Amino acid sequence: MSANREQFSSRLGFILAAAGSAVGIGNLVGFPVSAAKNGGGAFLIIYALFVAFICLPVMIAEMALGRKAQKDPYGAYHSLTGGDKKWSFAGALAVLTPFMIAVFYMVITVWIFGYLVQTFIGNLDQLANPDNFGVFINEYTVFGYMAGVVVLVNLILVGGVKEGIEKAAKLMMPALFVLLIGLVAYVLTLDNAMAGVRYYLVPDFSKMDASVLNGALSQAFFSLSLGMGILITYASYISKKEDIVGSSKMVAVTDSLVAFIAGLMVLPAIFSFNPNVNPEELSDSSVSMIFVYLPQLLLTLQADIGYVGASVVAGIFFLLVFFAAITSLVSIIEVPTASLMEAKGYTRKKSLTVLAVTTGILTVLCTMSFGMVEGLTKFTQYGGGVDKSFFDIISDVFYDTILPFNGLLLCLFVTYRWRKANLSEELTQGNEGYKGSFMEKYVNFSLSTFIPVILLLIFVNTVATKYFAISLFGF
Ligand code: PFF
Repeated sequence: MSANREQFSSRLGFILAAAGSAVGIGNLVGFPVSAAKNGGGAFLIIYALFVAFICLPVMIAEMALGRKAQKDPYGAYHSLTGGDKKWSFAGALAVLTPFMIAVFYMVITVWIFGYLVQTFIGNLDQLANPDNFGVFINEYTVFGYMAGVVVLVNLILVGGVKEGIEKAAKLMMPALFVLLIGLVAYVLTLDNAMAGVRYYLVPDFSKMDASVLNGALSQAFFSLSLGMGILITYASYISKKEDIVGSSKMVAVTDSLVAFIAGLMVLPAIFSFNPNVNPEELSDSSVSMIFVYLPQLLLTLQADIGYVGASVVAGIFFLLVFFAAITSLVSIIEVPTASLMEAKGYTRKKSLTVLAVTTGILTVLCTMSFGMVEGLTKFTQYGGGVDKSFFDIISDVFYDTILPFNGLLLCLFVTYRWRKANLSEELTQGNEGYKGSFMEKYVNFSLSTFIPVILLLIFVNTVATKYFAISLFGF
């Protein structure tokens, strides 16, 4: 272990930071809406099974790898193979991916910040106009909001692991939980709320098909921040005394619980806004839910609690989403930050500056690809002649395609190259009972057999459908 590597100050700090990474925009709106559309309770059960039996072993493997190597993802793959070129490529991909996803996520976080500020200055009525979003994202003020987010994220990251990442998580995660519970308690008092709860919880297994299963697994994978190098990096900041399996379970449970509870906020609110709603017709996109549908819904609360009251509720909602987004953004930018510090010997400040400039340029290009600049908006075409913007490409390539591929490489690396015995060895540190346990057998078996196969199928299917418009397996 490098003598002066930064460390989280406690297990709780690490768990909150990892949970902060996992709990993101996807949990708060994307999850509830896709659960409601895809079988309610049935989706919840399937999702929980995927988290427990597929995602948890991958999460454990990422953390074990990071703690063993005490390095960023590139450094981890590189050092554990003595510089093997093939595996260093996997490491490079595990650093490039978070870099690009950070750009994609930054764009959305900037919009959330903008909506938060607008709500606070009393403009909820304007945000509730369905045309507002299209105008908002194409106004130059969006770059002002972007500057705000960049400064905040960098102020956190420059503090380092203990004073920056951990402190921010210790502040924002409990706050997020309190805000969420407060909103759920309020929403459940609204007329018709129970219809939403019923729709959310009652299982409908008839909706389950290959595409729903694929969607649920991809959502779980993304939600737990897998394949992004984040958990490798965060776990490189914990001591050998920590129980990785136990911590992974805590992170997975916290993330899933927040997603589940968010459903108790979103669905009742939707049903109270429109008792005749057919959730199947709701938009699949979290973006249009957050920025178009929900502001309209939030404004209608003024009939009950007045304009100021509705604005307060909306402000709490956007603050909640903002906290979730910031802790995720911090975690993802920490990966290339750690890599630059390791590979180039840069100081934390210098790494952050380089990244602020490079991600900043790409974020500006993405921001301008929603209509501001024609060449970026219709950047290219694929998938059967569909126009794709600069933003779409980053999201399609890195979020949809490379993420499961990184997961696949990780499983293969850990079990066949680093080897199961070494994985077990690492996981036994901090958890004496691990060796010989059912958990050990399950982790070793699943990571070397069916999990990589599933991730490979998802990857191949995504490539075929996204880029060639060919449906291979019907999902
Ligand atoms: N778990 C995060 C979410 O559900 O939104 C995933 C994530 C995305 C983490 C982007 C970090 C990030 F930058």
